Amino acid sequence: MDGPGTTQRELNPRWCLAYDTIDRNDIDRLIQWLRTYPRLTKGAVTRDFESRWSNWMARSHSIFCNSGSSANLLMYYALLVSGRLRNKKVIVPSVGWITSIAPAIQFGFEPIMCEADPETFGLDLNHLEDLLKQYQAQTVMLVQVLGVPHKMRELLALKERYEFVLMEDACAAIGASYEGKKVGSFGDMASFSFYFGHQMSTVEGGMVSTDDKALADLLLMLRSHGWSKDLDQTTHRSLVEQHSIDDFHSPFVFYEPGFNLRSTDINAFLGIGQLEKLDWMTEQRRRNHARYLECLGSHFYVQRPPAGSQVASISVGLIAESQEQRRRIVNNLSEHGIETRIFSAGNLGLHPFWASRYGSTSFPVADRIHHCGFFLPNHAGLNDDDITTIARVVMEVA
Ligand SMILES: Cc1ncc(COP(=O)(O)O)c(C=O)c1O
Repeated sequence: MDGPGTTQRELNPRWCLAYDTIDRNDIDRLIQWLRTYPRLTKGAVTRDFESRWSNWMARSHSIFCNSGSSANLLMYYALLVSGRLRNKKVIVPSVGWITSIAPAIQFGFEPIMCEADPETFGLDLNHLEDLLKQYQAQTVMLVQVLGVPHKMRELLALKERYEFVLMEDACAAIGASYEGKKVGSFGDMASFSFYFGHQMSTVEGGMVSTDDKALADLLLMLRSHGWSKDLDQTTHRSLVEQHSIDDFHSPFVFYEPGFNLRSTDINAFLGIGQLEKLDWMTEQRRRNHARYLECLGSHFYVQRPPAGSQVASISVGLIAESQEQRRRIVNNLSEHGIETRIFSAGNLGLHPFWASRYGSTSFPVADRIHHCGFFLPNHAGLNDDDITTIARVVMEVA
């Protein structure tokens, strides 16, 4: 594969859904750096990565943590302890990931599930508005589904009208953009995942970005035990003075009931390297996605990105016309060594974690994604010929 320092290491089966964006060069650079015997726990390299990420995202503050799920956990809890909420109702998506919703349950929010938009598979805007009117929920969790941006102009208009706090889960949408702005720069806070197979990887890893300094300070404290020593000096000193704490105690005073969700400088070192080639890798994904749509877009129900948006998918999702057609396609893909799986998690409202608490929750679009959706590989290691072959295998039995 040609590209700035990206060599595909192992592919098994022949066409994997995901590949490791940490390549041999990245590992060689890591080894070289380790030979300088640096500090390994969170330190200067993490701060450097956070600052580069903020620049790349055009956001003011970013907090690196150990997964996208931890990033979501931090967002929910920071909002809760911020004291800004008059109620704990949160509208959550039916199509997304378990940890887009799990913290709501863990922290005693009242989650209300929303149907998927028939085009982007993000929050259905009519249903969202109905729910906002009915429940006066003060918080909305949006998942930017699979790197296809949601209709942000319309969503932001609802945000202004109903004055909710927007958490934007961009864990699987890094590099996508809407009207020239990167996905992940719309919410009051946004989360990102750097897990294997995502647009970039730090092995495990996640980030929260925000322009809100007060939330950023809370996120920093909550990430590490609830202490203040990761804050800038002025904020740290003002907390110390406000609570009349002496210098000997000050590093180990806990202002919030925090977690330990830190990552390490090793992961941050990898993140900096990934960021250097992220635009190139995103471009390959974008090109592959377009090629898939050329081959299959008129034969299948697929996500339709809004005008003025750029896709950065980590897999391409197709919706078969029936479960039987999906079964035939999945079998044929497997026989040809092409990896596949269900579409994300399908409808989260049909999973036991949700159904056992709130009852099985069905919606026409989310259910169709659940029962008929499947994934095709998309990553920077694929070229036009690969995609043509995969599309042919799909069409053979479609
Ligand atoms: C939409 C979404 N949110 C959150 C996550 C969780 O990220 P992580 O695997 O880094 O915990 C994922 C993982 O794929 C995801 O797709």
